[in-house]
Amino acid sequence: MTPVLYRATFLHTPESPFTHPGALRVHEDGGLLVSGGVIQASGDFAALHAAHPEVPVADRRGGLLLPGFIDTHVHLPQVRVIGGLGLPLLAWLEECALPEEARLANPTYARAVAQDFLAGLLGAGTTTALVFGSHFASAVDVFFEEAARVGLRAVAGQVVSDRLLRDELHTTPERAYAEGKALIERWHGVGRALYAVTPRFSLSASEGILAACAALMTEFPDVRFTSHINENVREVEVVRGLFPGARDYLDTYERAGLVSHRGVLAHNLHPSDRELGVLAERGCAVAHCPCSNSALGSGFFPLRRHLAAGVQVALGSDVGGGTGFSLLKEGLQAHFMQNLMGEAGVLLSPAHLLYLATRAGAQALGLEAQVGSFEPGQQFDAVHLQPLPGTPLDAVFRHAASPERALAAAFATGTPADIAGVWIGGQPVQARVQGRL
Ligand code: GUN
Ligand code: ZN
Repeated sequence: MTPVLYRATFLHTPESPFTHPGALRVHEDGGLLVSGGVIQASGDFAALHAAHPEVPVADRRGGLLLPGFIDTHVHLPQVRVIGGLGLPLLAWLEECALPEEARLANPTYARAVAQDFLAGLLGAGTTTALVFGSHFASAVDVFFEEAARVGLRAVAGQVVSDRLLRDELHTTPERAYAEGKALIERWHGVGRALYAVTPRFSLSASEGILAACAALMTEFPDVRFTSHINENVREVEVVRGLFPGARDYLDTYERAGLVSHRGVLAHNLHPSDRELGVLAERGCAVAHCPCSNSALGSGFFPLRRHLAAGVQVALGSDVGGGTGFSLLKEGLQAHFMQNLMGEAGVLLSPAHLLYLATRAGAQALGLEAQVGSFEPGQQFDAVHLQPLPGTPLDAVFRHAASPERALAAAFATGTPADIAGVWIGGQPVQARVQGRL
């Protein structure tokens, strides 16, 4: 790939605004020198152009260039059931999610779903995603094929369960281990793909299946781990009954040896101080999915307590409990919900929201050396927000007092239709998808 000098207003958060005031870096007339898909230099356009006059310039002025979004919790088989509003978690699973998930037994159906799913992610500017796959190994295989075709950085795995869902979705510890091992050997570290060992949640996982997951984690020391935790009060109660010896929900994973820096647990709306302490100590991250939490009435996320304990938090869309793929919308909903929590909440600035949608996700996935910011050495994964004339965001962008105010407006009113370009590893992967998902 020949080098390119991108000229744009760009913003990024190489450090956490939760611990570093002034972490938002803003370059109003910025330059990013990209070669071989990697950012070689990052700064002001004029200086970079003077130093590299021979490099062709890609002029992306007139919008905002941001690091590609990183979705740390999203379900492949649920793209076609987004919008099942008004049900609590366990009823929603039974009525909306699981009947659709059973259809992915058919690989032709699974491929069509994977294509819809990937169009949704890329259209929303998501360049890296931790994907809850399917219960069917064949569907996970198809997903990795399709993800490689479009270039997404996918961290994904087969979802495993052996009770309390529906028969078609149940497996055994032996089969979970064997199918997981085969998928890891076929996909982990191939191109941009990584594997995540994925027991659905303790409610649907016996100790035997959690042990099979732990065996995979031990045998393959670089694969990731993901599951759900403390999402819904009824779910927490059922899990307590199923694991009478466990101290709390986290302990069901902890006793199996599954809680580590390689993990991301989704939701954690109802944690004890002990659980937060263990997550922080082990470096296990939490995916905050505010649209899902609102749609399923699951509760308010105790972000302040997570931050105080030192737990790594990032954003997830939780499609299809969540209401779409846009991490701009998740950022806005996180802001709303924290605001509504009063003293218990955290006032989230545009810098916080950008961090949660980008670098925080990279840190949660152990990918911070590769993606999440525009620092030199990072992959050029980027989203160009440039609204069409006549749209609300266009009006704000043209009159915004500063790039930071424009960023706030992007979270407040931006949609996938405002995304004019997406790059992964320096390759353009998506033009504007107006009105889609
Ligand atoms: N807990 C177990 N499975 C699911 C799921 O598919 N969505 C959500 N939001 N929570 C879960
Ligand atoms: Zn989920």
